[in-house]
Amino acid sequence: MTGFPSQPDDTVPEAPLSKLDTLVRETGKGAIRGLYRIWAKTYDSMLVAMLGYEAPDFVARALAPHLPEGDLRVLDVGCGTGLTAEALLTHRKAEVDGIDFSPEMLEQARDKAFYGELFRADVTKPLPIPEATYDAAISSGLFTHGHVGAVAIPHILRVLKPGGLFSFSVYWKVWDRGGFSKMLGKLEKTNAIEILHHEQESHFRMLKNQHIHTLVVRKKN
Ligand SMILES: C[S@@+](CC[C@H](N)C(=O)[O-])C[C@H]1O[C@@H](n2cnc3c(N)ncnc32)[C@H](O)[C@@H]1O
Repeated sequence: MTGFPSQPDDTVPEAPLSKLDTLVRETGKGAIRGLYRIWAKTYDSMLVAMLGYEAPDFVARALAPHLPEGDLRVLDVGCGTGLTAEALLTHRKAEVDGIDFSPEMLEQARDKAFYGELFRADVTKPLPIPEATYDAAISSGLFTHGHVGAVAIPHILRVLKPGGLFSFSVYWKVWDRGGFSKMLGKLEKTNAIEILHHEQESHFRMLKNQHIHTLVVRKKN
């Protein structure tokens, strides 16, 4: 966890999504759904082919060595077009469901045909899924500017089995601002989770000075 500034430096060029905090504050979450409505069909080609987006690979690679043997049910949170599940499936066979609030992104995910169920829901609210359903959850790109803060983490932990794992990325500029350091500190202190992995890495091959925190946590009870 060295070599990266711990606080945002406003002299560094902003990532493409960086103006979203203000937009969402001013106009509400519909702005994000609107963004993905128009972006869904070109999302993969822009992020992966043009910008060299690697966050899905990082969270999948971090999770893989911690996964138990045997059948696995995994929830891809903020699944978008399916890049994160796709990355996970290169490491491990698993039954993967996805959840996202954008119907257009879910439609792209559905076309890839590797998901079991795809749910449309807002992950900042209790999820429409029974408690203790999944062995693991995985998420990349959801915890970023104008998207979702740490408030979603308890909802995600609720649907994990005891001992279940959650691997996720947090864009560095929302680490404090989005409440992640505080929430994770509190969950660790109350013995609700154990942090198994925490790294910071650059997540766009073509964009310098941008990075994410990659974490794997285990639900303890
Ligand atoms: C940057 S994309 C990441 C998609 C995919 N995980 C990836 O890494 O390519 C963020 C996704 O989060 C979804 N999202 C944003 N806010 C959400 C919310 N409150 N509830 C559910 N999904 C949300 C968006 O619709 C979008 O598909």
